[in-house]
Amino acid sequence: TSMYLGDVVVMYNQKLRPRRMRITPAMRAMVRETTLSAKDFVYPIFVVPGEHVKEEIPSMPNCYHLSVDNAVELAKEIAALGIPAVEVFGLPEYKDADGSSAWDPTSPVQRAIKAIKATVPELMIVGDVCLCQYTTHGHCGHLEGHYVDNDKTLKLLQKVAVSQAEAGADIIAPSDMMDGRVAAIREALDEHGFQNVSIMSYAVKYASGYYGPFRDAADSAPQFGDRRQYQMDPANAREALKEVDLDVMEGADIIMVKPALAYLDVVRQVRDHIHHPVAVYNVSGEYAMVKAAAANGWIDEKRIVLETLTSMKRAGADIIITYHAMDAARWLKEEE
Ligand code: PBG
Ligand code: ZN
Repeated sequence: TSMYLGDVVVMYNQKLRPRRMRITPAMRAMVRETTLSAKDFVYPIFVVPGEHVKEEIPSMPNCYHLSVDNAVELAKEIAALGIPAVEVFGLPEYKDADGSSAWDPTSPVQRAIKAIKATVPELMIVGDVCLCQYTTHGHCGHLEGHYVDNDKTLKLLQKVAVSQAEAGADIIAPSDMMDGRVAAIREALDEHGFQNVSIMSYAVKYASGYYGPFRDAADSAPQFGDRRQYQMDPANAREALKEVDLDVMEGADIIMVKPALAYLDVVRQVRDHIHHPVAVYNVSGEYAMVKAAAANGWIDEKRIVLETLTSMKRAGADIIITYHAMDAARWLKEEE
């Protein structure tokens, strides 16, 4: 009887042909489970002091240090491509121990937010809230000796968030990894009348080697030690859900996982764990690897980028922060 059953199974299996669903482009399009759109993207930009500045960042080809005037010009192009949001990072005019230029209304980030809002009001603006670009020591908060003091840092982050909201940011994105910062920022925003400014929390941010090119671009590398006392251990996934639970309880509106590509298992777990929108940050090192291989002719850049971004959505991301956003938006338009 086992022989007979085996024959039946073989015959039956020969009639099962998944390839029928792949036979034409139209059929493939009809059964496609995941679609990628320019509307999924957030494009990060780096603003610097001065005027008429446009300098390519060496480890991030086709990404630039831009003065505010040029950032506004780029913002028009970003919006024209159908990308709904920019995330603004900045290099300040001056640095000090507590990073006070991070909440200076005349710093490049605050001026850029204001100018972009005034010129391209339909483009949403995400403000990255952290201190490492603004502190002389390059750590993400207030130092006591060689230790980043959590609760003193919260007071500083509140000032940064409020200054960005005052400049016109729609979304505040804290990337510092202090405990309790979402609650602290929510409270400060509400106190200043910014109930409708939302918080996208870098809830699950790993201590990652993939941030290397960004730290050159933002001049934000720590001057001693590393960030392992506040950013997460790449080995941990259960802890990611703990961080997510806390940020949800504290009032985060969007939950982010960062980096993206090496952590798509975590993205899937987070997606299945909460009802909030989930964002991923396709970080500088992920971008640099693709650009370097493409420049050498070793990979097909367009194909690799669209495949990678699609995989991030398939893993459960609703929002993708990516330096590929403008290219990807153009490629998606070509394929329409
Ligand atoms: C600052 C910050 C970093 C990134 C975004 N915000 C770097 C870091 O934590 O060292 C990384 C972005 C990227 O690599 O593209 N806290
Ligand atoms: Zn930082």
